[in-house]
Amino acid sequence: MTDPKALSRERFAEHADEYVRSVAHAAGADLEKLVELTRAQPQWVALDVATGGGHTAIAVAPLVAGMVALDLTPEMLDAARGLAAERGVAGIEFVLGDAEALPFPDASFDLVTCRIAAHHFPNVQRFVDEVARVLRPGGRFVLQDQCVPENAASATFVNMFERLRDPSHNRALSAEAWIEVVGRAGLGVDEVARFEKRMVLEEWTRMQSCTPETVASLRELLAEASDGVLAWMSPEGSGADQSFVIRQVVIGAEKR
Ligand SMILES: C[S@@+](CC[C@H](N)C(=O)[O-])C[C@H]1O[C@@H](n2cnc3c(N)ncnc32)[C@H](O)[C@@H]1O
Repeated sequence: MTDPKALSRERFAEHADEYVRSVAHAAGADLEKLVELTRAQPQWVALDVATGGGHTAIAVAPLVAGMVALDLTPEMLDAARGLAAERGVAGIEFVLGDAEALPFPDASFDLVTCRIAAHHFPNVQRFVDEVARVLRPGGRFVLQDQCVPENAASATFVNMFERLRDPSHNRALSAEAWIEVVGRAGLGVDEVARFEKRMVLEEWTRMQSCTPETVASLRELLAEASDGVLAWMSPEGSGADQSFVIRQVVIGAEKR
């Protein structure tokens, strides 16, 4: 069986530039909300886990004294470093590492963020437990990720749809389940915001260099989807205009 972390590294190494340029990652009301929920203070030291193209680290860095951006994929760190230089944002330390085994001492950060990435991690609870370990008491965690419906069959379908496009997609949870994972790590959730992003299927699949066969299979899946899935994904249009909705949650929490 393929090691899921090796698969993530392989996929993101291949598509690093796409994630730097991705409109869905680069900006938006969701990123603004994430930044608001950090309640960042100028003296704080922050960690952005699975920084990808660096969009979250670059948005938060000017608000804090220190920023560390961690990722599993060396090519993504290079791409994020390049974007930070292009934007004139200095002082971000880029660290190669695994979200489930953070290479930092206990209580070493005031703030941890993780945006649109935890659905790749094989053990999400281990990751959030690690976040709780590296946060000082009173420190903040802001998690943003994709959600699936509460209904188990619809959730399985949405995760399978995502995994067909990107085999390194492990599992997105329902908003309620993401909140539970954060709470189980001893972090008190104090704010939750929900977002919907309409994705054009062709652009979404291009980001992962999907073959025409995979794109055709995704179109077939949408055509055969249950009413529950259709209500969740709201597909519209056809051909080059075919689109659907991805739902995300942004969760703000504090270490007790
Ligand atoms: C979609 S990108 C993240 C987007 C980014 N946070 C943003 O705000 O634009 C997903 C990232 O997760 C990283 N990743 C996947 N598994 C990881 C793990 N176990 N530890 C750390 N990073 C991981 C990938 O290398 C990739 O860069």
